[in-house]
Amino acid sequence: MPNTVVIGLQWGDEGKGKVIDLLTPDVDAVVRFQGGNNAGHTLVIEGQKRVLHLIPSGVLHEKCLCIISNGVVVDPKVLIDEIEGLKNSGFFKDPSQLSISEDAHVLFPYHVRIDQLREEKRGGSAIGTTGRGIGPCYEDKVARCGIRMSDLVDSLALKKRLTEIVPEKRNYLEKVLGSKLPLSEEAIYEQYNTYGQYLKRHVCNTNHLLQELISQKRSVLFEGAQGVGLDLDHGTYPYVTSSNTISGGVFTGTGISPKGVDKILGVAKAYATRVGRGPFPTELNDKTGEYLQTKGAEFGSTTGRKRRCGWLDLFWLKHAVWMTGADHLALTKLDVLSGLDPISVAIGYRLNGKMLDSPPSRIEDWEKVEPVYESLKGWHENIESVTNIKQFPKACLDYLKWVEKEIGIPISIISVGPERSAHIYGDRRA
Ligand code: GDP
Ligand code: IMO
Ligand code: MG
Repeated sequence: MPNTVVIGLQWGDEGKGKVIDLLTPDVDAVVRFQGGNNAGHTLVIEGQKRVLHLIPSGVLHEKCLCIISNGVVVDPKVLIDEIEGLKNSGFFKDPSQLSISEDAHVLFPYHVRIDQLREEKRGGSAIGTTGRGIGPCYEDKVARCGIRMSDLVDSLALKKRLTEIVPEKRNYLEKVLGSKLPLSEEAIYEQYNTYGQYLKRHVCNTNHLLQELISQKRSVLFEGAQGVGLDLDHGTYPYVTSSNTISGGVFTGTGISPKGVDKILGVAKAYATRVGRGPFPTELNDKTGEYLQTKGAEFGSTTGRKRRCGWLDLFWLKHAVWMTGADHLALTKLDVLSGLDPISVAIGYRLNGKMLDSPPSRIEDWEKVEPVYESLKGWHENIESVTNIKQFPKACLDYLKWVEKEIGIPISIISVGPERSAHIYGDRRA
């Protein structure tokens, strides 16, 4: 399989984990390149559900190398718990399966506390973050005062860095947020030094590792977290995450050049969801929205929050296909649409009476945007056990063809259930 980037095209939770697990038998390595444990990627294999937050979704295939590269922010406690959980279930038997970049930034308890307290302070204008400390950790990276994996695994360096940064964090927490440091400097050092020693064997120069893999023509899958709508620069700012979720994030987040990527696979749900606050033009606060939420079991994989649900936003999807350069689409959760007739799909945005040719920038405009819908015939048949595209009801096939024509790229994977096996390949495979 060519080196492929898998990117969520909506507001996260498109089913990227399932798609990656599905493609892993054909690749040598899966790489997480941005985000942190704000991500929750679900894999369901023979009824057994597993949610991965930091370890790449290829980990259940023992021959697959899993790489956490420099663009990821790593909460070592969460990572160690994930490793131990996998080991206890009979996976991850060989420690050399996981490599972590020495340049990845480490997420500390003060990042989590700052994230949560800021959200509390924002009250009605909170972003609705996952509360995992992601924003504050990326802030330190950009402010050039972050602590990296290479520091975490070296006791002396860790002590020195903590001595420099902790007083500043204590001051900020006490003076600005009116709270205390969650742990003393000494306790942070003791705990994180232990984590560092545990993770040391996995820490290396992942840029070099990727260079070697790519030059040996071994195939690599780049696993996006979140989705285009949550991109720091290109999403619905400020209701976004703190990293670049578009395919461009692969290059800064791993250090490989654009020449290292051959294909881009976009992942989208057959409808739309969003968890946390922020604009959502096609949101449905009615019975149809409830139907999608219940039938699609739309609860956040990381925080358990109910996901907001709405119709597919094709205007956004086309934009996201363009932004990411997606060559193919994996369309997930098509089974959830069964029983809805007609089905609406947004084909444009109207703002102040005028049709837009691209999504707006300012949040005030985003909030005023009115979606313009096309109505399509729905179907009532259960499609969960369909194994061949020809078995789809006619209305479902027409829907797929229409989406394909509108977005201008082929649908190469159609997912009809959470199970690894519940998928159909389109006419043109990724
Ligand atoms: P990710 O963050 O993009 O990996 O997506 P999540 O794992 O957060 O959310 C997707 C949810 O949908 C998970 O619970 C999956 O098990 C489930 N899922 C994935 N594909 C399908 C599908 O085709 N149909 C149904 N009904 N559920 C699916
Ligand atoms: P996966 O990889 C859905 C959302 C949060 C919030 C905003 C900012 O599973 O698709 P953050 O904690 O990142 O500062 O929160 O981004 N968010 C996600 N929504 N799926 C995700 O990841 C998300 N990661 C962050 O809900 O609105
Ligand atoms: Mg998720």
